[in-house]
Amino acid sequence: MRASDSITITPVANTLPFSRVPHPPATDYASPMRIAVTGGAGFIGSHLVERLLSDDHHVLCIDNFDPFYPAPVKLANLADVLHHPHFTLSSIDLCDANALSDSLAQFQPNTLFHLAATAGVRPSIERPMTYVRLNVDATQTILSASLRHGVKRLILAGSSSVYGKDQPTPFREEHASDIPQSPYAATKRAMELLAAAHAAVHPVTITVCRLFTVYGPRQRPDLAISRFVRAMLAHQPITVFGDGTFSRDFTYVQDTVEGFLAAMHAPSGFHVYNLGAGKPFSVNELVSTIERVMQTQAIIRHAEEQKGDVPTTFACTQRAEQQLGWSPRIDLEEGIRRFVAWMQSANPVYFQVGEPWSLGIPIDDS
Ligand SMILES: NC(=O)c1ccc[n+]([C@@H]2O[C@H](COP(=O)([O-])OP(=O)(O)OC[C@H]3O[C@@H](n4cnc5c(N)ncnc54)[C@H](O)[C@@H]3O)[C@@H](O)[C@H]2O)c1
Repeated sequence: MRASDSITITPVANTLPFSRVPHPPATDYASPMRIAVTGGAGFIGSHLVERLLSDDHHVLCIDNFDPFYPAPVKLANLADVLHHPHFTLSSIDLCDANALSDSLAQFQPNTLFHLAATAGVRPSIERPMTYVRLNVDATQTILSASLRHGVKRLILAGSSSVYGKDQPTPFREEHASDIPQSPYAATKRAMELLAAAHAAVHPVTITVCRLFTVYGPRQRPDLAISRFVRAMLAHQPITVFGDGTFSRDFTYVQDTVEGFLAAMHAPSGFHVYNLGAGKPFSVNELVSTIERVMQTQAIIRHAEEQKGDVPTTFACTQRAEQQLGWSPRIDLEEGIRRFVAWMQSANPVYFQVGEPWSLGIPIDDS
């Protein structure tokens, strides 16, 4: 049984009066706007949705509550917005071109954030076809449907994984990104290339925001910070892969969301921006930070380095600073403090997550 079968999620018909007004040009930001967010029930997407609603925009959340981790967690992510009068939920699969077309025709967004994806490096090695379908095919479906429905500006969630493992640090957007180290990274790069080609032949503005290990309340349960804090709250051991010297440019979700908002003002055409903290920490330093904040000592087990993992990620944020006026604000210690405080009083559903990729994704990867 798929996790999403255990709850009832029906496509919600749009209850707003839809006038078929001409789409504003990409540079017109008169509020409120009509904004679609794919993957809006996920970790980062749900924060973005909340923020857009608080800025008075009308938001269409497109999310099929895929079984990468349990659907009840994603419903909980949306708990504070489900009944917001400017919020519309469309629980369709992006690969269903007809359903997507109907959804966009009804809502008529002028801007679309594309965050839906199957994320995670390690499971992509076991299920590469799933990643191709959900990250590559679905991206082209979104691009084509957006064009048909007059969406003039698209902002895509890219990934630091496209830089691979042999780049000089910090990673700059113009660095080569042609030797991905996992199927996940390859699909995120393929997404960028499809988007670049699309923007080259159609009058649309596409901005790719390359995200660097995002964390904060509701973080995906497969990611290290969520795993570590949940385990440490339960006095269980944590698993550190390798010797803990691999480093990541951990970025607090609020900074990521601010970066997405800044990207709504990106120059026209196709552009790529790093949205990272610009200050990597090793896994060992991360564990020490969590220990300090929680005032407890982790029980650490070491396991072999994982295939597909790269030794470091490190964003140069100069381009985003100069062109978008964005820079990260929340340092690791403060971010961990906020995350631990949230986790200590979080809905129990955030602890009932199992192993995300053992839930079974219903696609044959043979
Ligand atoms: N979290 C990170 O550290 C990080 C780092 C780099 C890039 N990213 C990118 O950011 C985006 C969001 O990541 P996240 O961590 O919030 O992941 P998430 O898994 O929490 O959210 C993704 C959402 O997309 C939905 N979805 C997946 N396939 C779909 C489909 N075919 N149709 C409709 N909905 C679908 C899922 O149900 C989920 O709610 C992804 O594109 C990911 O690749 C995330």
